[in-house]
Amino acid sequence: MNLFDRKSHLFEGLTNLSRLFIMRRSFRKYAKREIEFEKIIEIENTIKDFQLTMGFKHSMVKVTKNKEEFESVIRAAKRGLVGKINPWLNKTNATNLLIAIVNTNDTDQNLSERFKRIAETSILMEVAILRATELGLASCWLAGVNTSEIEKEYKLGDGEEVIAIATLGYPPISSNITDYDFWANKLVSARRKHLSEIMFYDEIKE
Ligand SMILES: Cc1cc2nc3c(=O)[nH]c(=O)nc-3n(C[C@H](O)[C@H](O)[C@H](O)COP(=O)(O)O)c2cc1C
Repeated sequence: MNLFDRKSHLFEGLTNLSRLFIMRRSFRKYAKREIEFEKIIEIENTIKDFQLTMGFKHSMVKVTKNKEEFESVIRAAKRGLVGKINPWLNKTNATNLLIAIVNTNDTDQNLSERFKRIAETSILMEVAILRATELGLASCWLAGVNTSEIEKEYKLGDGEEVIAIATLGYPPISSNITDYDFWANKLVSARRKHLSEIMFYDEIKE
């Protein structure tokens, strides 16, 4: 990932974690390369550990395991009008997907509980994405997909909702001005505020 040059000012005084926040960006182009199975397991372990530590009982992030599963979710994701939002998915070299699922059972009368569970699921998804980034992988959050078709694909139970998916793969070897990924990176991803503008560090003293 050659982000360092263009964003060098953002890398000053970073911790390992905040460095990851800057390294992560949305990729719409991927190299033709499989992700090693060990890395998939690493991501799954991170999801499990974080979920357990945080006590997020209503969240789940699945990682697709093989080409067939990947292709069937992509097919479902692209169905209908909403499925046309991401035409780059048609020919992506991404090889795996993260699927963020929330259990919203018994929240019909309790919107704040519903939103809390969705927020927890989003946090879990972002942690999985950051772990993938740490492992040298590229990703892209996708909410412009047919989530209800993905729910059918996984035969999810009542109250289980897919909130988003994310592509996973290796970053492209190169990107040029004919690539959507090149412009999205230059015009959006590279325009970051310094973390000190949006984060506040403090210490808790007993
Ligand atoms: C919840 C969520 C949904 C998103 N859905 C899409 C999407 O459907 N298609 C897409 O290309 N990018 C999608 N993105 C990626 C955003 O466009 C991207 O995060 C934003 O442009 C900032 O760029 P960066 O992620 O590289 O910093 C989504 C991001 C989030 C957080």
